[in-house]
Amino acid sequence: MEFCQVIRKRRSIRKFQDRPVEKEKIQHLLQCAFMSPSSHNHRPWHFVVVQKRELLDKLSLSKPGAQGLHNAQAAIVVCAYPEKSDVWIEDAAIAAHTINLAAVDLGLGSFWVQIRNRYFDQKTTAAQYVKNLLNLPQDLEVLSIIGLGYPLKNKPENQSVIEYDKVSWID
Ligand SMILES: Cc1cc2nc3c(=O)[nH]c(=O)nc-3n(C[C@H](O)[C@H](O)[C@H](O)COP(=O)(O)O)c2cc1C
Repeated sequence: MEFCQVIRKRRSIRKFQDRPVEKEKIQHLLQCAFMSPSSHNHRPWHFVVVQKRELLDKLSLSKPGAQGLHNAQAAIVVCAYPEKSDVWIEDAAIAAHTINLAAVDLGLGSFWVQIRNRYFDQKTTAAQYVKNLLNLPQDLEVLSIIGLGYPLKNKPENQSVIEYDKVSWID
């Protein structure tokens, strides 16, 4: 698909067909993620692919706004080791968005579930909940979860235009 068309078509999809995502397509998404740029090329990422229904359902409880994972057929938990990069958040966010865009090109829908800086309950961060559930090391941080599947319905293309009040153009 033409690049601008991918950008226009990308919307957050939270309702999916009852159809599994092929392993090859998930591998392709991972391949794209690993081609992301990272500061100093430190590549601090770690990705956890989840396809088990039971785990997807538990991930959907990780915080308010994660419910769509209950409908998802797969998820990629986007993590990074802060000790490997002082800008791990940026590195992980770029990789996460690369997955979002690559999914469009494969005919998949996806949505971003924010985990960093979010809470499961008053005492537990969403990141800690996810780490406990997936048995992840304590020194690994969780940025987001990308929910995936074949869209139940296609959303209208992105209609956003340049908001010139948010742009300063210095000639
Ligand atoms: C940093 C970030 C965090 C987000 N967190 C969530 C989330 O926790 N749950 C969710 O359903 N969508 C989440 N989204 C998706 C946004 O709600 C969505 O991108 C926005 O409403 C624009 O809609 P669109 O993606 O269809 O263009 C997040 C998106 C970004 C970039």
